Amino acid sequence: MKPFDVYPLQSVTPVKAEGCYVWDKDGTRYLDLYGGHAVISIGHAHPEYTNAIAQQAATMGFYSNSVHNPVQEEFAKRLGEVSGYPDYQLFLVNSGAEAIENALKLASFHTGKKHIISIKKGFHGRTSLAVAVTDNPKISAPVNRVHPTSFVEMEDISALETVLKTKDVAAVVIEGIQGIAGIYEPSVEFLQSTEKLCKKYDALLVLDEIQSGYGRTGKFFAHQYAGIRPDLITVAKGMGNGFPIGGVLIHPSIKPSFGLLGTTFGGTHLGCAAGLSVINVLESEHLMDNASSTGSFLIKELKKLAIKEVRGRGLMIGIEFGFSIKELRKILLEEFHVFTGTSSNPNTLRILPPLSLSIEQATYFVDSLKSSIQKLKENETVSVHK
Ligand SMILES: Cc1ncc(COP(=O)(O)O)c(C=O)c1O
Repeated sequence: MKPFDVYPLQSVTPVKAEGCYVWDKDGTRYLDLYGGHAVISIGHAHPEYTNAIAQQAATMGFYSNSVHNPVQEEFAKRLGEVSGYPDYQLFLVNSGAEAIENALKLASFHTGKKHIISIKKGFHGRTSLAVAVTDNPKISAPVNRVHPTSFVEMEDISALETVLKTKDVAAVVIEGIQGIAGIYEPSVEFLQSTEKLCKKYDALLVLDEIQSGYGRTGKFFAHQYAGIRPDLITVAKGMGNGFPIGGVLIHPSIKPSFGLLGTTFGGTHLGCAAGLSVINVLESEHLMDNASSTGSFLIKELKKLAIKEVRGRGLMIGIEFGFSIKELRKILLEEFHVFTGTSSNPNTLRILPPLSLSIEQATYFVDSLKSSIQKLKENETVSVHK
């Protein structure tokens, strides 16, 4: 048997990692500006994190959710404090899609309704409900298309209200910043109006912070720039720094009945020890502040290059060119040893590094990008537009 290739594979195979770098088997070092898809928040193989996992595995890695779990209790308390949601409950799962699946299920349970509003170009995962609210027919099978979802354009508040008025809407789901689409941030006004309309029409507001959360934008959650307070918030990716954990933060007014939610592996001792150490390092190394300052520096420097558009906040950045990034990304990886991410916009590079990225590493990337663009021009493989 061979592994199923989930994505087109890159030409470099990392076998070792530390901080913001990965190495291939020949010992060549690569700067990781992809962070394994926004997953590596505190840096690869952080010693405090690896010790916490090793110690917990040696003490007790797993027991079922049918007993008190002190590690889970401490993790939830710390996440409540650091995120600014100390009065919410935390339901722990294993992935982002599972978090979305459960958040939408909770919204439907709480409101007794079932229509969902989602935002065009958004991405929420590949399980049944998650794919039903994702605006990408390529990843949905006929069985996924039975769920009633309306997709509205980001910023189109009147379209949103029309659906809320005419359908029995359980939830509006929106990413803190759209990631896979190519880094598109909803405006403060749009988020605030959406929150108001959800209240007016008795629908729940679900903020998908799976990619944009966990300090990546300089605040714990991207929606906190708009000062809103969603009913349900989904988290995953950076939460475990590579350990597969996800969760739903649940507003105190939502009270799931016993049995509605359940999981074998969500919230294990091992997962919670990993999650706890991520929070500890985020705080002790001031990584949210670093994401904000290094991100601002990077965005400012990138805007000096004659690039079509630079979007984003903190260390969640989309760099859009007037041409496909395919060749550029290959040059960056193979000649300048920098990993970068793609997006569903073929002209947009996605930058999602560990939150510990330094100014020197950011500068190396900007210089490498400049040189790569120059190489492209010399090769005349594409015509480079401003
Ligand atoms: C915004 C957002 N939501 C949900 C998901 C799904 O997460 P997972 O792949 O862990 O199921 C992703 C994954 O990329 C995402 O970016």
